[in-house]
Amino acid sequence: MNDHEAPIVSIHGLWTVFGRGKDEVVIHKDLALTVQRGEIVSLVGGSGTGKTVLLRQMLGLEQPAKGEVTVLDQPAARLSRRGAASRVGMLFQQGALFSAFSVMENVAFPLRELKTLPEALVRDAALVKLQMVGLKPADAHKMPADLSGGMIKRVALARALIMDPPLLLLDEPTAGLDPNGSDDFVDLLRSLHQELGLTVVMVTHDLDTLFALSSRVAVLAEKRVLVTGTPGEVVKFKHPFIEHFFLGERGRRAMTPIKDTAPDPDALTPDFHPQSHTESHPDSAADHKEQSQ
Ligand SMILES: Nc1ncnc2c1ncn2[C@@H]1O[C@H](COP(=O)(O)OP(=O)(O)OP(=O)(O)O)[C@@H](O)[C@H]1O
Ligand SMILES: [Mg+2]
Repeated sequence: MNDHEAPIVSIHGLWTVFGRGKDEVVIHKDLALTVQRGEIVSLVGGSGTGKTVLLRQMLGLEQPAKGEVTVLDQPAARLSRRGAASRVGMLFQQGALFSAFSVMENVAFPLRELKTLPEALVRDAALVKLQMVGLKPADAHKMPADLSGGMIKRVALARALIMDPPLLLLDEPTAGLDPNGSDDFVDLLRSLHQELGLTVVMVTHDLDTLFALSSRVAVLAEKRVLVTGTPGEVVKFKHPFIEHFFLGERGRRAMTPIKDTAPDPDALTPDFHPQSHTESHPDSAADHKEQSQ
């Protein structure tokens, strides 16, 4: 890796605002986040804090009210619809398969939409991607309604990877999977990250997934990235959300393997102003996860 290489994602001074006048809602306020090539950055934050909206900003699906979102050296807003899937792959929070399309049609969709490749090549590419995510050629003709939760995630992942994008965005990749399914999907993501040299930004409420995959964690609170660092570093940061998220009962269980890692306080990059208003999030991550299962 070249030290002087530009970051894959570079966000500075980002404001995301929905609505106007008295209906105006500020989701992100002066938010900054940088992701280097090859990292797996986990984005955590309470429900409704704007994690999915931040991924949508990286995809160019939302417009910054102010600030810059640069992805692979270009403003995200300029990711053209046609070329987007070759630059950024996205696994949406709800799986988001087209229910009337077969597995093959779902996976091939971004490539077929380009209308530049012959049908035989499109199908071959889709079959390669299905195999890559651990599905069989026989699965290609199934419909989404006939798939298990884990298979749906795999099909959605194959579709996200169909054009070999260097950047993969994952919104709650293991939500709704049972523990075995979740472990299998984490193993798959880890091996694809290594084999394909991907850069990954992942939203997750699941601490096992977070600890298994993250090279760095970014905590979204108070409308911005409050702190980034390794899980061991971030957990030392004093904030109600962080304490609730990492140090609740589930957190303690998931933390056990890293308990002995003494974090270096100087390694923290706290973009934190103590005078700023502190919002706690009663709808905590843990509660949200329980609800969503
Ligand atoms: N297009 C939109 N117009 C208006 N408000 C929106 C729009 N999209 C998202 N929001 C609001 O922005 C806020 C952040 O939403 P977002 O989906 O990013 O939350 P999240 O952090 O992903 O939450 P969760 O953990 O529940 O998935 C929510 O209050 C949501 O209602
Ligand atoms: Mg979300």
